[in-house]
Amino acid sequence: MALLFLILAVCTGSGLSESPTGVRLVRGPHRCEGRVEIERMGHWGTVCDDGWDMKDVGVLCRELGCGAAKGTPSGYLYKPSAGNEQRVLTQLVNCTGMEKMLSECEQDEDVFDCSHKEDAGASCENPDIPLPPVPESVRLVDGPGRCKGRVEIQYQGKWNTVCKTGWNLKSAKVVCRQLGCGRAINTQKSCDKSTQGKGPIWQSQIACLGQEVVLQDCHSGPWEKNNCTHAEDTWVDCEDPLELKLVGGHSRCSGRLQVLHHGMWGSVCNDGWGEQEDQVVCKQMGCGKSLSPSMKERKIFGPGVGRIWLDDVDCSGNEQSLELCQHRFWGRHDCTHEEDVAVICSD
Ligand SMILES: *[C@@H]1O[C@H](CO)[C@@H](O)[C@H](O)[C@H]1NC(C)=O
Ligand SMILES: *[C@@H]1O[C@H](CO)[C@@H](O)[C@H](O)[C@H]1NC(C)=O
Repeated sequence: MALLFLILAVCTGSGLSESPTGVRLVRGPHRCEGRVEIERMGHWGTVCDDGWDMKDVGVLCRELGCGAAKGTPSGYLYKPSAGNEQRVLTQLVNCTGMEKMLSECEQDEDVFDCSHKEDAGASCENPDIPLPPVPESVRLVDGPGRCKGRVEIQYQGKWNTVCKTGWNLKSAKVVCRQLGCGRAINTQKSCDKSTQGKGPIWQSQIACLGQEVVLQDCHSGPWEKNNCTHAEDTWVDCEDPLELKLVGGHSRCSGRLQVLHHGMWGSVCNDGWGEQEDQVVCKQMGCGKSLSPSMKERKIFGPGVGRIWLDDVDCSGNEQSLELCQHRFWGRHDCTHEEDVAVICSD
């Protein structure tokens, strides 16, 4: 038991500590040259060129996977220049040249005198390192339910695990949102052998700001051999999603729809309910496809009792969870239990 706790402590210890500060080059001819932008609290701003030199550019080029430093051009020359709505986030950067990331360098964030005419720019040697592919889809596997598990990214039909290096809670937040799973609670290494992956490992670091709707919108580092093993696979725990059940049928995949809210089960009104909403429920419950039952077939599951939680539910059909569909505020409706939704799925 003590050993188990020790393992847990080791594995969860680094859970929330890493927080890569975003940095990028914009408006240049390629991703390895342009005006320097850094991210702070979800906003991208510029860097004043006070003291900006080849050592600083060297760190930046390395961080971006762009090879060696070539020059320190003025960031103002890359058009369109930064506008007034964008802030200068740091007055001075002073790297020793040994740092791995610009955020590790000495910086003076107290910006007292700098206009966008003094924005720093950078030019690096190697623009040819391929950009990482854009993930097609993401899932959480080998956990208890679809909202907790090892992160896997789909690309060209293959599922890849993701290395914990460079991954943080902001990226987990985006995954949870994308999957319709509520808030991100924790992210850590998937340290138990039984929950480690076996397939390919994604060879790029993903760094989200946290507001992105899907992982595809997050910043990806260069695609290069990252030497990660499955012992560093990333695991994410999201809040439990909206819980559903189907009652009154022969199996858990058909019946009157019940949703759990504030610890209480209630029904869903069929105003505006149709094929797309059926499909989302069947998919969320792992019950295959909707059999598109007639009104009469649905009626046999009878009217429910108690709360009517949802009304005017409107899905596009692609949602992973009913929670992601539009609906009236919880508990607001103009329905009776005669209008309770029932669903019949194929499995
Ligand atoms: C940068 O840091 C070095 C020491 O690491 C210091 O000698 C130098 O004065 C600093 N430069 C500026 C402009 O602050
Ligand atoms: C991976 O290992 C190789 C060889 O040991 C090394 O040259 C390379 O820099 C490593 N890559 C990373 C991202 O650590």
